Amino acid sequence: MIVSFISLALTGMTLKFSYTGWAVVLSRIFGGFETAGFIHRSAAVVMFGVFFTHLYDLMRRKRTEFGTWKNLILGPHTMLFNKKDLHDFIGNLKWFLGLGPRPKYGRWTYWEKFDYFAVFWGMFAIGSTGLTLWFPEIFTLIFPGWLINVATIIHSDEALLATGFIFTVHFFNTHLRPEKFPMDIVIFTGRMTLEEFKHDKPAEYEALVKSGELEKYLVEPYQPIVIRTVRIFGWIALTIGFSITVWIVYAMLFVYR
Ligand code: HEM
Repeated sequence: MIVSFISLALTGMTLKFSYTGWAVVLSRIFGGFETAGFIHRSAAVVMFGVFFTHLYDLMRRKRTEFGTWKNLILGPHTMLFNKKDLHDFIGNLKWFLGLGPRPKYGRWTYWEKFDYFAVFWGMFAIGSTGLTLWFPEIFTLIFPGWLINVATIIHSDEALLATGFIFTVHFFNTHLRPEKFPMDIVIFTGRMTLEEFKHDKPAEYEALVKSGELEKYLVEPYQPIVIRTVRIFGWIALTIGFSITVWIVYAMLFVYR
């Protein structure tokens, strides 16, 4: 998902800001603007693959782990926003201002849930308009021609929003906050130290201790070579993301047409 998103952002922005010097350099690396478009559509196929694999995995987990959709969607580890998220959000603001303790986050924090649904929303908003731009002849068999112009605007601006959000707000919440700086590699390893877990997800930790299930989840850390490799990958992703942010700000402020 990371590789496909970054490829889409790099090639997409090369097309969007084609009049900037960075786009010229990048388009040379990609083999021309036309090839950048080809890489863009190939990365989109990978992203659709990731999305449908996730939906398939949800169906599999519903069958094997949860039994019913209700248990999966509304169970204690729900990805939907609930009252606790609202309390955590208010508690977090108070904590920022030094007016209260850090909230006791559970399995998923409210910003992780937001990020999760942002991808779902993005798949519909960016994915559907992207397909319209890719296959205009098919879409205009059903819809009027002006829809292609509208699709271009939605695709382009929603892509800007997604890229801007992920490479600033998401990067800050996940990697740049003091506890995690300079990066949190749990997305790659699925593992964290017990100390980190206690601090990061206190409500989940307490629930596991209470139910006596904590032991079930204890595993050895990965070998240093694995950690080093994912860190290198993480650094590359962060560097590209931050560079794209600088590029967008520069293009919008100084050379926007
Ligand atoms: C996931 C499905 C996606 C599909 C099917 C798709 C498809 C397309 C197509 C067909 C174009 C027209 C350019 C060309 O064909 O050469 C395009 C343009 C573009 N795409 Fe995507 N794309 C997708 C996702 C994304 C994402 C995730 C981003 C950004 C993170 C993005 C950013 C852009 C941008 C900035 C443009 C240029 C628009 C303009 O000229 O203003 N796309 N996309």
